[in-house]
Amino acid sequence: MWRIQEKVIYPKAELFGSAFLSSFYLKNNMTGIGFRKDFAEDFLRSSILRPDFIEAAPENWIGIGGFWKKQLKEALEKYPLYTHGLSLSIGSPDDLDFSLLKQIKIFLKETNAKIYSEHLSYSQCDNAHLYDLLPIPFTQEAVSHVSKRIQTVQDFLERKIAIEIVSYYSPVAAEMSEIDFVNAIIEDANCELLLDVNNIYVNGFNHCYDPKKFICQLPLERVSYIHMAGHEQVSENLIIDTHGEPIIDPVYDLFEFTMNQLKRDVPVLLERDFNIPQLSELQQELNRLKVIKQKSLNEQLYELHS
Ligand SMILES: [Fe+2]
Repeated sequence: MWRIQEKVIYPKAELFGSAFLSSFYLKNNMTGIGFRKDFAEDFLRSSILRPDFIEAAPENWIGIGGFWKKQLKEALEKYPLYTHGLSLSIGSPDDLDFSLLKQIKIFLKETNAKIYSEHLSYSQCDNAHLYDLLPIPFTQEAVSHVSKRIQTVQDFLERKIAIEIVSYYSPVAAEMSEIDFVNAIIEDANCELLLDVNNIYVNGFNHCYDPKKFICQLPLERVSYIHMAGHEQVSENLIIDTHGEPIIDPVYDLFEFTMNQLKRDVPVLLERDFNIPQLSELQQELNRLKVIKQKSLNEQLYELHS
């Protein structure tokens, strides 16, 4: 039923029909890369790095002109765009920044962005921008506050947004567990979930819980987007989520576990923000993600048709 090509197992054409297979190959198994100014020129001038889509933070590209505007335009002519916001500060006690939201709405429309995602955290308080993603207290009051803000953002943007569970290093004034907190917000806000597998691994390690159990307790039907990244273990008991290292094997394993739980295709992004390696190394990481995802999708197809 299956044939093996370049270490990826594909379904046999005669068993599934050409129309099914063309949609399987064209629409499935998307892997993307964060579009960073550090390597934008090299990326656009060569075919070494070949993602299916790119991700950008609207805040980094709104209102730019000249050389970088041309670079973004060129990238958008080649690749679909997924977006990942940086400064909406969805968990902040301050008022939502509607001026920023208006700019984001225009940017999403102009770039035909497929997904808009943001962090389940805050970075603004008393009108001070803190340039960090701070954890929201795991409390019922915060659940009500944040889920209402997500609903307001979704209404304003006229689209669902995907919320990312962030890595954190110390819980703040927790009255409930992290999983109950996250699930209550997603349910109340009726939003989608960006599942950053590395963040779950890092949090599980730093806060001594089983990341697989945590993932199984999430509303997986709401996962619309996955992030994968590297991190740095700085001591026996502490991992820092750096996005500056290659993905490690246990995080690939957790990704495979996640795909097998999801039982469907979800676009996956490789986040690399620091210590940018050769583009060929990034492509190797994308290849590995694609192979893992394809294997899981093939197993689902096999179960469906056997
Ligand atoms: Fe992420």
